Amino acid sequence: MPNLAGPAVIAGAPGPAGHARILGIGGYRPERIVGNDEICQAIDSTDAWIQERSGIVNRRFAGPQESVVDMAESAARQALDHAGIPAGLLDCVIVATITHPYQTPAAAAMLAGRLGVTAAAFDLGAACAGYCYAMSLANDLVRCGTATYVLVVGVEKLTDFTDFTDRGSAFIFADGAGAAIVGPAAAAGIGPAVWGSAGDQWQVIQQRVPWTELRDVDRPEWPNLVMAGQSVFRWAVWAMAPVAREAMTAAGVSPDDLAVFLPHQANMRIIDALAKQLKLPEHVHIARDIADAGNTSAASIPLAAKRLLDEGQARSGDLALQIGFGAGLAYAAQVVTLP
Ligand code: UT7
Repeated sequence: MPNLAGPAVIAGAPGPAGHARILGIGGYRPERIVGNDEICQAIDSTDAWIQERSGIVNRRFAGPQESVVDMAESAARQALDHAGIPAGLLDCVIVATITHPYQTPAAAAMLAGRLGVTAAAFDLGAACAGYCYAMSLANDLVRCGTATYVLVVGVEKLTDFTDFTDRGSAFIFADGAGAAIVGPAAAAGIGPAVWGSAGDQWQVIQQRVPWTELRDVDRPEWPNLVMAGQSVFRWAVWAMAPVAREAMTAAGVSPDDLAVFLPHQANMRIIDALAKQLKLPEHVHIARDIADAGNTSAASIPLAAKRLLDEGQARSGDLALQIGFGAGLAYAAQVVTLP
């Protein structure tokens, strides 16, 4: 379908150092493709049920020796190439993840080391909202002049923390990494973030037991992630559309101005319900990467964006509405100009 969105711009006051935008994007999908039939070997389910209830057909699993930092590095190097920025110019590295298996040091510091830079580096734990949270921070760091170039990564190896015998989550979670370079721009390329949390509902997605239990108990449970799927589903469908609308208002754009909708890839039915509530015009391309990627939490939005750009369904300069939501329950949305 031709791209009918106009050359709309994002309204946004410059900071003391001007405006910021995404300059490049990268993604890493692990090699191994895992179909629903393999997942169903450990749970009482079917390929048809999983496809109907979640939209997932395949997902990617990282190899046993492949780490969050390995995947982040691949995505980051691609994003740097796409932006045409040498790693040495990075001032800050933010890694959004909940599956780096070290409490310390941060994956971001290890990534900075791999890239050979001494940039400020820290991890951000906002689960599936992590990439949008990090994008908001990067925008402000650049606008304020604290940093000139920021590397933002969303990466997860969720398979390390998935109970493959749990019917409620075994088919959802997957692995991958996405990255973006944020830097100076002549006009606003990242709209104000509309973000928040519903911490009173923290129990609906959580690590089953704390790390300390592995030490204190004779037969510890592995700290897998579990969720009350229906509760998260209802919250996402009803609470996230107003957040997405607010993000458009804050950026001074209407659904007609958008070329792309990039919701967190949690469930195809959530994606469809949000698109319907937002009354997105037909010309807006809706990211549906979940069918082949599963739910990669913090990585899902940049991976979906990269795919639309690679497949020619989105173009450089297009306006995209992105929204992340998940454990916490944390959420964040903003309108961005695609690199
Ligand atoms: O990324 C972080 C945010 N996460 C999300 O946004 C995930 C949100 N939640 C979801 O995507 C959905 O809740 C799921 C896809 C996880 C589950 O779909 P659902 O439509 O909410 O299923 P349900 O839990 O309401 O279960 C419906 C039925 C039940 O059977 P009865 O009671 O109606 O007879 C379940 O026992 O489906 C049954 N069921 C299954 N059947 C086959 C539950 N899990 C399975 C399964 N295979 N894996």
